[in-house]
Amino acid sequence: MARPNRALVLASATLVGLTLTLVVSQGMMGAERPHYADWTRLNPQKNFIRSAHPEAKDVYVNAAGADAALTRSFPFPAGSELVKESIDTDTLEVFVITAMRKVPGFDPDNGDWEYGMFERGDDGAFSGMWADVGSEMHQMCVSCHTNAAANDFVFLSYAGD
Ligand code: HEC
Repeated sequence: MARPNRALVLASATLVGLTLTLVVSQGMMGAERPHYADWTRLNPQKNFIRSAHPEAKDVYVNAAGADAALTRSFPFPAGSELVKESIDTDTLEVFVITAMRKVPGFDPDNGDWEYGMFERGDDGAFSGMWADVGSEMHQMCVSCHTNAAANDFVFLSYAGD
């Protein structure tokens, strides 16, 4: 086999580097969905509240946010994360998850919550993103969650006492 051409190797390494930079700058690295199998479910019964979110929902909170959610002591600490699963009532499959996580300095006027949305594709895998602070998606989530500002922007309306 011929020796690989050094210039070619360098060029492809540069290309990989550039692609990675592009991916990072487009926020794709923020595409990792939360994994919440060991989180605490907040709703005693499935949540059928009509809202912007589809019906049949479960909401989970991670360890960092559990105390705040369960004892309603606000604000939530840094690192708190909530996930809402939406379940298709025909197939009982989780077809979308929305999420919010507390990132200090992310958006101080709106509780420093970063909002994410991940949809399940035909292959069963979730894809989606955490929205940038200036994005339409972020504004859309904030526009409504601001109604729960008294609860640090988390509705908790489905949670038990
Ligand atoms: C039109 C209003 C509205 C919009 C827009 C909205 N939400 Fe919500 N959200 C609610 C309401 C009401 C609840 C609680 C009741 C429910 O479960 O539907 C909620 C609950 C949640 C929860 C569970 C934690 C909590 O607040 O109790 C998450 C996570 C969440 N929303 C994420 C999002 C994300 C991400 C977006 C943007 C993509 C978004 N929401 C946009 C109204 C809204």
